[in-house]
Amino acid sequence: MTNKIKWGVIGSGGIAKRRTIPEGIVPAEHAELVAVYDINPEANSAVAIEFQAIAASSIQDLINSDIDAIYIASPASLHHEQVVACAKAKKHILCEKPLGMTIEEAEQMIAICKEEGVLLGVGLMMRFATQHQAALKIIQEGKLGKPVYGRAQLSCWYPPIPGAWRQYPKTGGGGSLMDMGSHCIDLLEMFFGKIKSVNCFINNTVHSYQSEDSAVVSLFFENGAMGTVDTYFCIPDNSSKNVLELYGSKGSIIAKGTIGQGAAGEMVAYLESNDADYSAEQARSAAEGLVIDPKPVNTYMAEIEEFSCAILEKREPANDFTLGLRSQQVLAACYESAKTGKVVEV
Ligand SMILES: NC(=O)c1ccc[n+]([C@@H]2O[C@H](COP(=O)([O-])OP(=O)(O)OC[C@H]3O[C@@H](n4cnc5c(N)ncnc54)[C@H](O)[C@@H]3O)[C@@H](O)[C@H]2O)c1
Repeated sequence: MTNKIKWGVIGSGGIAKRRTIPEGIVPAEHAELVAVYDINPEANSAVAIEFQAIAASSIQDLINSDIDAIYIASPASLHHEQVVACAKAKKHILCEKPLGMTIEEAEQMIAICKEEGVLLGVGLMMRFATQHQAALKIIQEGKLGKPVYGRAQLSCWYPPIPGAWRQYPKTGGGGSLMDMGSHCIDLLEMFFGKIKSVNCFINNTVHSYQSEDSAVVSLFFENGAMGTVDTYFCIPDNSSKNVLELYGSKGSIIAKGTIGQGAAGEMVAYLESNDADYSAEQARSAAEGLVIDPKPVNTYMAEIEEFSCAILEKREPANDFTLGLRSQQVLAACYESAKTGKVVEV
């Protein structure tokens, strides 16, 4: 193996084409795009031409090309069978979220990857945003005090589109909560630790497709902190500022737009414990707080680079399967709560 991991992609036409291939696999130092596969041959050959890759004609054809790792970015309901096929062919796998449709699927995917000795990572790339990492450091250093309350919001406008897989529970596993709330829940667990129990409402407030277009979750963390995730498919893009708010006994960290696909967010920390020495190079003084403004990284590049290095260094990736399984466990508790109207332990 050289110092570049050779990548194949399944589901080349969506997020893979828009972000993960051009911003992640192509520019990453330890990655190289070799082959792509999509059920839509026209879309696939367009991606193959654009990024000078082989257009595989089937998953088997992709597996047979000279690749070490596969990025799976197909609709959620296909992740399980595709991970199984790739693992059996001894390919390392970075699977987009959700890891499966259910806890059981995620557990089976993990078991087969362990059996076959391949790495399994999950595409929860928002953890890599440098502002999120800076916020985590502030919390870990105790500068926020005891975690008290966290809110993570991710919403967009997603109108009815015939056949769109996210709009049917059978192919998406759920709506806004499964699709975008998964990132919010994952981030809040990164900041505040494990969630103990949830209370969730879902609804179709505006759109009448089968999956929910609205979800609000109240979270109770093991450390006693509380939180909220609000995630909607029926709020116009520019009207949702994708807010992240983290409060502790010594201050707060307030961000707009750091949750999402781009790197255009603003984050300010209000620390009230006379920590005048806090001057990591990523922070500069602002009138009312410390602007947390580290050099941004592209989160898709960071996830591909980290996973590629994990393969090269024969270690588990930072975003390994445990995060994917955990996400399924919390999401399952949320949907159970929405169904029963009860608080559900994770
Ligand atoms: N982390 C992120 O920022 C992010 C953003 C968007 C989507 N996603 C995840 O990526 C995955 C794909 O989402 P998307 O928005 O790109 O969806 P999409 O519908 O835009 O694209 C999915 C692609 O998969 C292809 N496809 C469908 N069936 C296939 C099959 N049997 N074999 C191979 N290809 C097949 C489609 O033709 C399409 O090109 C989902 O798991 C989603 O949750 C992650």
